[in-house]
Amino acid sequence: MTSLQDKLLALKQQGIKDIEKSADLKELNDIRVHLLGKKGPMTEILHGMRDLAKEERPAVGSFANKVRDNLTETLEQRKQELEAAKIEHQLAQEALDVTLPGTPVRSGAHHVIMQITETLEAIFLGMGFQVVSGYEVEEEKYNFEKLNIPKNHPARDMQDTFYINNDILMRTHMSPDEARELEKHDFSQGPLKMISPGRVYRRDTDDATHSHQFFQMEGQYIGKHVTMADLKGTLTFAMRKLFGADREIRFRPSYFPFTEPSVEVDISCFNCDGSGCEVCKQSGWIEVLGAGMTHPNVLKAAGVDPDVYGGFAFGLGIDRFAMLKYGINDIRQFYQNDVRFLRQFKQA
Ligand code: PHE
Repeated sequence: MTSLQDKLLALKQQGIKDIEKSADLKELNDIRVHLLGKKGPMTEILHGMRDLAKEERPAVGSFANKVRDNLTETLEQRKQELEAAKIEHQLAQEALDVTLPGTPVRSGAHHVIMQITETLEAIFLGMGFQVVSGYEVEEEKYNFEKLNIPKNHPARDMQDTFYINNDILMRTHMSPDEARELEKHDFSQGPLKMISPGRVYRRDTDDATHSHQFFQMEGQYIGKHVTMADLKGTLTFAMRKLFGADREIRFRPSYFPFTEPSVEVDISCFNCDGSGCEVCKQSGWIEVLGAGMTHPNVLKAAGVDPDVYGGFAFGLGIDRFAMLKYGINDIRQFYQNDVRFLRQFKQA
């Protein structure tokens, strides 16, 4: 063996050791460049062949080729190993445990009062009414004067009022929106058909059936030739939609300053069908709203000619409707926001 062959053998052994020790692809590539590159030991050894005798060269040459092939092959093998290890590592790192329980997504839901409101809106929209809204902090003249309730009128006692100052108050009912819409409406464009759901305030001591704030919905239909039959038809349709197709409706005479005549409206009990039960207090009937034919003074106050135009108005308690519909016996439940209560009304 020539000393060149010794050197080649040593190079091969060291090279293989280094290759096998290499920890990653970058290090392996450095080793390859070093071993087989132009300035590497292989090149240097081959340069040494010039000093050999002619007959020695083929043997050393083919030995050198074998060493190079050997190293190249070992490099290739190690490269494959390292690449496989890299993928393995990546997979392990990105592994998903699909059996882990997910984080629960808690979704909110519409409050039961909102649900009833939306149901009512849909019913009246279907009959050509529009939904309007006014102001919770209202001018006294809209809450009272323009609704035919002058100062010192005993009817003001019907609604204990939170006053902000002499002229401004928390609205005690939704009827102010009647006056506001009447003033705004252009009757040359057709009749005024509106509903207005919203929050109202009264100085009441809270208990199971009273709350100092609650929800009402006002309705109003003013045009030419609107009669009490329209009132009855409209309310019968709405109540049947809400409480069942078999509901009968009944009017009892009543008094509101802004309507004449005025009525309390009862529906036949949806629980016992009129035979008498706890829900209707054995009467077979449930009081659901107040209504009447709009008083001429209300029309006049809004600049509408009562000799040409007229119609009806009604007001209902949304809380009361929700309580009836779901058998809730304490109005305070709506405002305490106990999620255990609220969740029961979550719609799918
Ligand atoms: N505003 C009356 C109330 O709060 C209800 C009502 C409205 C009655 C419209 C008749 C007509 O009690």
